Parts: sequence; C-alpha cells; structure tokens
Amino acid sequence: MVKHRQGSGGNASASRNLERKMKTLNNIDKFGRIHSYLRVSLTDKCNLSCKYCNPPEFRARPPLKSKEIVKIIKILSDFGITKVRFTGGEPLLRSDLFDILNEIKKIKKICLTTNGLLLRKKIHKLKISGLDSINVSLDSLYPERFKQITGKDNFMDVIDGINAAISNGINVKVNCVALKDLTNHEIDKFIVFSADNSIDVRFIELMPFCSKNFINANFMPVSEIKKYVLSKYQITSVCMDGVAKMYEIFNAKIGFISPISHPFCFSCNRLRLSSDGILYRCLFDINGFNMKNYAKTRDIEHKLKKYLEEKKESHNINNKISSKISMRFIGG
Ligand code: 5AD
Repeated sequence: MVKHRQGSGGNASASRNLERKMKTLNNIDKFGRIHSYLRVSLTDKCNLSCKYCNPPEFRARPPLKSKEIVKIIKILSDFGITKVRFTGGEPLLRSDLFDILNEIKKIKKICLTTNGLLLRKKIHKLKISGLDSINVSLDSLYPERFKQITGKDNFMDVIDGINAAISNGINVKVNCVALKDLTNHEIDKFIVFSADNSIDVRFIELMPFCSKNFINANFMPVSEIKKYVLSKYQITSVCMDGVAKMYEIFNAKIGFISPISHPFCFSCNRLRLSSDGILYRCLFDINGFNMKNYAKTRDIEHKLKKYLEEKKESHNINNKISSKISMRFIGG
C-alpha cells in the first residue's frame, strides 16, 4: 500500500500528477482500450448517392449547430480525445466547417474524410485551417464505373480535388470500398495511381449500411484483392497504419481494411458523434449517449466513463445483418 506523508510540496505535486493521470483513465473501457479518437459526422447530407451508403429507410435529421459541435468536442477533449476526424455525409457541404476548425485548436490531430467533390474549391481554406490530413473516397478509376457506384458524373472533380490537395502539400489518402465488380485490371490501375501520386490507397470491406440484397451481390473480402496483389507484385515492406495493413510495392502503398472478415475491435480507440448529437462507442452500436442533453451536466465525465465502460468487446457484425443506423448519421 502507498503511504502518504503530509506537508511535503513534492508529494502534493506528485498527488496532483497522479490525479491528472487518473483523470485520463476515464477514457478506458473494461477491455483496456483507450479511447482517444473521435469521428464526427457533420451532416447527413451528401452530394453523391453511393449505392453502398443508401439505407433503405433514410430520413434526414436536423444537424447540430457549429457551437454545439465545438462544445461537445471540448467536453470530449477533456475526456481524453486527442484526434478528431470530420466526416458525414459530406462534411465539406457545411460552410461553417471552418468556424468549427478555428475553435478546436487544442485537438492535436484534425483530419477530414470527404468525397472530394468540393475539395478543389475549399482547399486553400482547409490548408490555412491547419488540417493534418484528408481521406478521399474514390471507389473507381473508371469514370463510368464511378458514376454507376455514386450515381453522379463527378469523377474528374474528385481527381481535381486530390491534385489540389497534393499540390498544397496536404497528406492525402484514398479510400476505395471493395465491391465484387472491382477487376484485377482496376486494382493494377490503383497501384499505378498510388505510385504516380505518392498517396496511400486503402481497400475497405463493404459494411452492412445498405440493403441485404446489395451486400449479398457485392461483398468481397479484401483478402481477395490482397491475394491478387501478392501474386503479381513484389512487396517491399509491410506495416500497420491505424486499422489498415499497408503493403509497399516500390513507390505504391496499398492497404487493406477488413472490418467484416477480420474485425479490429480489440484495438478500437474510437468514439463517434452522429450529425444529430448522439455519441456512439461503435459503428454498430445500438445505444447512443445523447450529448445534446448532457452537454450542460456537471458530472458529464462520470456519465461518459460509465457509458464507455459498457462498450462491447466486439461489434459482432457480419454481412448478413444490416445496421439499424445510417452511415450518414454516424459517419463513415
Ligand atoms: N461500407 C464500407 N465503407 C463505407 N463507406 C460508406 N459506406 C460504406 C459501407 N457501407 C466509406 C466511404 C468513405 C467513408 C466515409 O466511409 O467510402 O470512405
């Protein structure tokens, strides 16, 4: 047992340090996972209508105001969040995004996931705002297939957006949802695209945020892409980058994210804030914590700690179950 001596300034400061350390323990769940990463869906609106992100019964909900978002992020920053990613829907549709970015300078790492349509237009403001990195969703390098998946003819806008980000020195990664009709030839194209632009391309497994029929017809484990890549290319290094397993093929960097075939729940460090102010512990969480109600409560940290403690060990999702909540609310 630790004995405390009284009257020593050194001990007082040691106990303050310990108190501070104990405080950071609030963001640990009962499986020892430290939650330092918050993903914020800024809006459920999107200027694309991707087939895999089209919930059967979607009804838009009023989004949080920018002031509310800032307040919630500050509360969660005190709770231990050090990294925030803005997503959606399409976060660049919110003109007050820059007001939010201005108010959360205390957050160490701020990132954005976008479909890229408005990226070129907004790149200078994004650069000034001190954003750390941008992930761009791009599911095909063929304009026709892009249109088929997203419902829109904006392939070149996305490419222009990626180029604008690169030429402004912003770190860009591309996310590509692995759909069954992705051909080996297109995988080759993505590898060349990665090498030519010096950007990571990550293939993500399709998650059940759409109709069961769509999942049944289109799900492909990323291991199939990996098998093809390993059979054809010489790998120069392998490493983990967050949840992505990255393979270097000379100048190309190709990654695989497998939430369905090989879930990474054991290392999950994420919380999610939906566009209407509900905090979730997991993409597939059923019970959220309404931050709008609690933002004014004094013992919010204690309530958050209790909420986090009940996080499940694993999402237990397979591609036969559809999520109850839309990806647009909870954020991709
Ligand atoms: N499965 C996998 N990824 C998805 N995204 C959106 N819906 C799905 C889904 N059903 C991805 C987008 C983007 C990020 C916001 O989430 O492609 O990269």
